[in-house]
Amino acid sequence: MSSKDIREKYIKFFTDRRHKEIAPAKLVPENDPSTLFTSSGMQPLVPYLLGQSHPAGKRLVDSQPSFRAEDIEEVGDNRHTTFFEMLGNWSLGDYFKKEQLPWIWEFLTKELELKPERLFVTVFGGDNNSQVVTPDGKTFELGLDADSVTEWSKLFEKEKIAPIVVDMTNPETSPLEISAGRIFQYGVSKNWWSRSGSPDKMPTGEIGGPDSEVFYDFGINLGLHEESPWKDQPCHPNCDCGRFLEIGNSVFIQYQKQADGNLKELDQKNVDFGGGLERLTAAAGDKPDICQTDLFKDIIKSIEGLIQAANVYGVKGPKDNFRIIADHIKGATFLIKDGVEPSNKLQGYILRRLLRRAAVEMHFLDGFKLKAMNKMSDLVEAVVETYQGTGYFEEVDINMIKKVIDEEMQRFEKTLEKGLKEIEKIDQIDGKKAFDLYQTFGFPYEVTEELFRQKGQEIDREQFRKEFEKHRELSRTASAGMFKGGLADHSETVTKYHTATHLLHQALRDVLGPQVFQKGSNITSERLRFDFSFDRKMTDEEIKQTEDILNKRIEEDLKVERKIVSPQEAKEIGAIGLFDEKYGNEVSIYGIGPGFALDPKAKDQRERAGYYSLEFCGGPHVEHIGIIGKIKITKEEAVSAGVRRIRAQIV
Ligand code: ALA
Repeated sequence: MSSKDIREKYIKFFTDRRHKEIAPAKLVPENDPSTLFTSSGMQPLVPYLLGQSHPAGKRLVDSQPSFRAEDIEEVGDNRHTTFFEMLGNWSLGDYFKKEQLPWIWEFLTKELELKPERLFVTVFGGDNNSQVVTPDGKTFELGLDADSVTEWSKLFEKEKIAPIVVDMTNPETSPLEISAGRIFQYGVSKNWWSRSGSPDKMPTGEIGGPDSEVFYDFGINLGLHEESPWKDQPCHPNCDCGRFLEIGNSVFIQYQKQADGNLKELDQKNVDFGGGLERLTAAAGDKPDICQTDLFKDIIKSIEGLIQAANVYGVKGPKDNFRIIADHIKGATFLIKDGVEPSNKLQGYILRRLLRRAAVEMHFLDGFKLKAMNKMSDLVEAVVETYQGTGYFEEVDINMIKKVIDEEMQRFEKTLEKGLKEIEKIDQIDGKKAFDLYQTFGFPYEVTEELFRQKGQEIDREQFRKEFEKHRELSRTASAGMFKGGLADHSETVTKYHTATHLLHQALRDVLGPQVFQKGSNITSERLRFDFSFDRKMTDEEIKQTEDILNKRIEEDLKVERKIVSPQEAKEIGAIGLFDEKYGNEVSIYGIGPGFALDPKAKDQRERAGYYSLEFCGGPHVEHIGIIGKIKITKEEAVSAGVRRIRAQIV
């Protein structure tokens, strides 16, 4: 069954059930500065989920192009993408679980003809850390979604499949029980949905609720679990081995977060369903790899063409490089179509990351010989071809999209050349240096390994892997902020302000002298407040100089790097900040601007080590400071004798 058939069947299925089809929103929200991308179908519908009446009524359906930057590191496996199409249906205070779950079941088993025995479901198992407040002021704990368990049980029973319920929130649940399960209960991390994640992460006013997901089982015979890092644990729907694929999520949006941390019941109970078209197509074709569906096949073929079959997908060479290129070029094509241009900020930064990452993967696939990356814009044609008949690219100037990509590739080639020169300068490469090259110039490990194999050198792969894991951890933390698909909530803006605080600390030391030392800081999503030791009012000129330094560094888009070192080492390289003795043998320090070229007459160890700022800190921070945006100091005042306070805002 083609993706086009599935899209059409879905829309028809729900319009037959009195839903109105609505037009999809653009990938970059037009009137919503709180979020970078449209990352789910519900995003443009928030006012209506909150109670405003929708002109098309209470039942809606669509297919929404969506983009999730936070999944960028996951791309390369059999199922993750940054860009995808989300099939969605909504009840705005109309029908609820008793209608939604049987409908989805019918759509999957009758329209897509998925075999019921291949389907597994998950439900919300409750959370004893979350309190709900009813309109009459009663409070109760968020409990198990028993109604969904009942509905699913009936549906499985009709198919003569035992509806065995397994409680995954209970650590005592045995592997045997897990292997027999059909309906799985999980906690907030898996079966609660809001744009910001679990209830504790939701900003005040945000809506969300328990959800129920359907998974397709590709079968144990493929050995996906046995070959995965999770092989020693029992497999279950939310295992990451790839055997199970989540193909649909019904969210019961019925709560709104309150300022006191509780969840208030909404006046209307909503359904928000989302199913990834790429995954539904993979399940309908029983293909455990979305790149084997018609939504990727032609793009993959075009990549093979560009690299002149130096590798062939699934036959010769690795698959993940192909998958990354295919996903990123598709995401880039859609983003450019919706008006994004490569830059160091916000959406533009993400687009740049997609294109450059695709370029290095391309470089790797063609064995660094064919310069295929310079022809990367050719792949746009395959992307457009893939979506023929959808209307997405009607009246779009394809050459304009190609030109944006060509120009970015020319800029990137210069960066790469610099990186290659850097490699030439290194006598002996080790895993750590290989990682630095990866981080600074985007050289994948394999590229560096290959270049040095040619030079007769071996690199310690394990050392590289360790560095990489550290970095991954960091970028996951960052994704919880800036690149989160969700809101510009606390995590996103606060992360930016947090990094800005480090910059401010150093800028003040530059302008006023090394007697300046942090005394305290306080950050909200509106501003930062920074207290420091200094014994007089700053002059207007000093404030301006400080501001100028901050904005100059931000413009330079310095990188942020985390290091785990011994306290001794941290002090030796001149890290400053509030050092907490309880850290023990290892401390976490954050450096801004590794390799930063300061005055050759560097005055201290920090500068000689090539950092603009170096502080003891647990994070999280942004990865590149360019995304902070412009900073303005709004106030400078006294707090107490010898302590001043600055307030600053991102403007
Ligand atoms: N909004 C829900 C999701 O994105 C359906 O999973």
